[in-house]
Amino acid sequence: MFVRLWLRSFHIYDLLLAIGLITLIVFLCLPFRFASHYEYIEESGIEKALLKQVTRNVSQQEVFECDYSEIIAENRFVYHLAHYHYSVQRGAEIHLGGEFRPEGCQARYSTAIIVPYRNREEQLHAFLTYMHNYLSQQLIHYRIFLVEQIDHKPFNKAMLLNIGAQVAAEYGFPCLILHDVDLLPLNSGQIYACTERPRHMCSALDHWRFHLPYRGLFGGVVAINTVQFQQINGMSNLYHGWGGEDDDLYERLRAKNIDICRFAMEFSQYTMLKHKPEQPNANRVALLRAATLRQPFDGLNSLVYKKVERRLHRLFTLILVVT
Ligand code: BGC
Ligand code: MN
Repeated sequence: MFVRLWLRSFHIYDLLLAIGLITLIVFLCLPFRFASHYEYIEESGIEKALLKQVTRNVSQQEVFECDYSEIIAENRFVYHLAHYHYSVQRGAEIHLGGEFRPEGCQARYSTAIIVPYRNREEQLHAFLTYMHNYLSQQLIHYRIFLVEQIDHKPFNKAMLLNIGAQVAAEYGFPCLILHDVDLLPLNSGQIYACTERPRHMCSALDHWRFHLPYRGLFGGVVAINTVQFQQINGMSNLYHGWGGEDDDLYERLRAKNIDICRFAMEFSQYTMLKHKPEQPNANRVALLRAATLRQPFDGLNSLVYKKVERRLHRLFTLILVVT
């Protein structure tokens, strides 16, 4: 009855009004959720921005340097490739401990990928399969370090990253990529190497509808030179539980006048594997407020933990620790 009446009196103006209202609602909701603008390096600037640096053991093994310009220019969406998810394609070329270097050309970049971990077996499996397939196409030298917290205290992600950074430095890696286990890159041209400025790599995450929620977000997947990481005394060891430790890292960089960078959106798309939300750390805001005050004595120079074991798996180097 009502519907029929409404339909009879329906006018094109009603439709326009409805469209207008919906547009207004969307417009009102979105700007608060996303950074309105942020700077990024365009395709033409990417290769120049990358830092040429390799570990000593892989330098000067081949005559010709690998060609990265083609990989960047080609930048394909690779997440839909079924074989990337199915099994590790070039397993025979991956050395014990999860290390790979291209054969036939000289790698220009050596990267330690550091993954803090506890109790996410399914994600880990998806991560390792996909990442080895993704990374072995990039002609870089890399090794995956998994740092696992085996105690039952709240997860201390930043401390695990500090531990991983320390181990990677022992192996001589000049570049660190701090990587959540639940994030996977979608574009083949997001080269896993360090830039002159530390780089926020996952700035277009599907979880955030491919937008950056705020300009100071510097978590998820970030690339940072080992020397710069040491200069800022690494990350804080005091964030127990979810949240804030990445904002703290950003504050540390700012305190040392180190700017960050990002690549253009079409290089920076990531997907987030689903998981239950973690319990946020109630203390995180207070900790963050004093981030730079604590920086000189809370970080790499105050890192205390128990090394339980180091194990070389086929696809990764496992570092078991008690925090
Ligand atoms: C938290 C960060 C987190 C970000 C995005 C912030 O409120 O402090 O740790 O990365 O939200 O989820
Ligand atoms: Mn997550």
